[in-house]
Amino acid sequence: MPEARTPQERPLTAVPPPGSHPAPSGAALEIWWSRVDVGNLTDDVRDGLAASLDERRLAKIARYRRAEDRDRGLAAHALLRRLLAAVTGTPPNRIELGAFCISCGEYGHGKPFLDTGDDERPVEINLSHSGEVVIVALAAPGVQLGVDAEQTRTVDWNALRSSIFADQEWAATERRADQEHRRLVTWARKESSVKASGHGLSLPLRDVVTADGAGGSWSATMPAGVGRAAGTDLELAPDVAAAVAVLRDEGWPEPPVVNRVGIGSAPGSGSASGAGLGIG
Ligand SMILES: CC(C)(COP(=O)(O)OP(=O)(O)OC[C@H]1O[C@@H](n2cnc3c(N)ncnc32)[C@H](O)[C@@H]1OP(=O)(O)O)[C@@H](O)C(=O)NCCC(=O)NCCS
Repeated sequence: MPEARTPQERPLTAVPPPGSHPAPSGAALEIWWSRVDVGNLTDDVRDGLAASLDERRLAKIARYRRAEDRDRGLAAHALLRRLLAAVTGTPPNRIELGAFCISCGEYGHGKPFLDTGDDERPVEINLSHSGEVVIVALAAPGVQLGVDAEQTRTVDWNALRSSIFADQEWAATERRADQEHRRLVTWARKESSVKASGHGLSLPLRDVVTADGAGGSWSATMPAGVGRAAGTDLELAPDVAAAVAVLRDEGWPEPPVVNRVGIGSAPGSGSASGAGLGIG
């Protein structure tokens, strides 16, 4: 049985300035997350976030019909780009992101990566957004990671049960007092695993079978040829189920470092900047 490992939480913080933050090394993982008042950001905050994005992402976000979706997209991608600027020194809106779909072997869609134009990536990335929560995970070059957050909401579990849960996973949640939350946690574990492999939901979640480890760690068995994932639950808030996964056979080497930033928080709420991401 692996020893208990708990993610290390840091208090509300700001994204470091460009070029000042080394990428995680070895097996270290960093989690950066925020709770965003989606749909209600001020124009100043929206402008501040948009300034970090490139034209392509801005155009994509502008096509979202709901203000909540636009704010979620702005916040998640500004956080990602500010973090990549912190690691690389490149201005956030000039960061080049690529995407690769392992399911069809094509570039242009699928799992995003920092595209530096050569094979050496300085850092590995993944992101998730759900409800008010945006989350970015960083890892050392070569680490295949995935992150997923699910904010508590009403779910028709009977409709979803057979497409998401293996029988033993469903049975395990039925024994729990916090049944609804455990189901979302199991969902986040599975989705972070398929995001780590890059397959996303082209792998049926039911075929990704998770098993508890110690201290919030877990493992996932995926279909033949995909491999196994090891992960850790992220206890960000009572109404958020979240998990981070790494494609690897066994064990969890280090607990992730969890950083919370303020995005568009009211002045005095503790964010490093009232205007934006603990980032502007
Ligand atoms: C990726 C996916 C799991 C996201 O699920 P979700 O719960 O809607 O969204 P999340 O907020 O957790 O994650 C979204 C982010 O994951 C990242 N992502 C996209 N595809 C990914 C993949 N294949 N693997 C890992 N991460 C991926 C992106 O950064 C995306 O953010 P964006 O949409 O703002 O750019 C799901 O949309 C999916 O699997 N799509 C692709 C299906 C597919 O592979 N089809 C075959 C095409 S050939």
